[in-house]
Amino acid sequence: MKPVTLLASSLLVATASAQLIPFFTKPRLAAQNQQPMDPNMANPGIALPPSSDSSNPTTPSNGPPPNSNLCLNDVLGSQKQINIFAGFTRDVSSVSDRLDNTSMNTTILAPLNSAIASLSRKPWEDPEDYSAFGTSAYQGQAGEDRASGNLRRFTEAHVVPASPWKAGEKWNSVGGNEVWWEVKDGVTMVMPGSVEVEKVASRVANGEVWVLKGVLNYARKNE
Ligand SMILES: *[C@@H]1O[C@H](CO)[C@@H](O)[C@H](O)[C@H]1NC(C)=O
Ligand SMILES: *[C@@H]1O[C@H](CO)[C@@H](O)[C@H](O)[C@H]1NC(C)=O
Repeated sequence: MKPVTLLASSLLVATASAQLIPFFTKPRLAAQNQQPMDPNMANPGIALPPSSDSSNPTTPSNGPPPNSNLCLNDVLGSQKQINIFAGFTRDVSSVSDRLDNTSMNTTILAPLNSAIASLSRKPWEDPEDYSAFGTSAYQGQAGEDRASGNLRRFTEAHVVPASPWKAGEKWNSVGGNEVWWEVKDGVTMVMPGSVEVEKVASRVANGEVWVLKGVLNYARKNE
């Protein structure tokens, strides 16, 4: 099958399933139904619909998920408010492959489109490139390679190789930056930059999509 056909059909599947499976949460309603739970286990910001996990604690990790047959790549593109970031994940193969792979769980920290649009520079731009190569920094093949390297760094900084991810638990993102999350005055924030989590948008077989109001630090690491 041609890649184009494959993409189109997986989008169709994702769209069709999205209408059937309530993975978009209704924070207030769900919150009322929540049992008090160990704060370390709490999901950030909003409560998720009661899952069937508790009644079936022995679901094998290689079996179908309790609440969905979808994986992160299926659902990421269906959410308009984060579709810029979703596009980035498709361009970065290290991330795209991971989100398709149901044997690796992931928490995606997807900045809102508005957060990406309001950055003072594009995620694929780096001031160091401009000082080294001037205004033609992103022209030609070498320029394209620089841009895709920067985009990869930005994207990988927002992909945490764990789900479920407990409060306070420190992980290195796929890009290598250390992150954890905590709740301060009722606001869920990804640390160390205190970037607010707007909501958990999706919960599928191989992880969760969290929507961030800002972007995480993705500065180049100087060796
Ligand atoms: C999924 O991830 C596992 C564990 O890292 C790896 O062994 C496997 O090859 C991956 N599958 C695909 C299709 O990439
Ligand atoms: C992966 O995520 C699923 C669905 O949330 C969960 O049931 C499973 O325990 C997770 N596996 C790991 C290794 O964290």
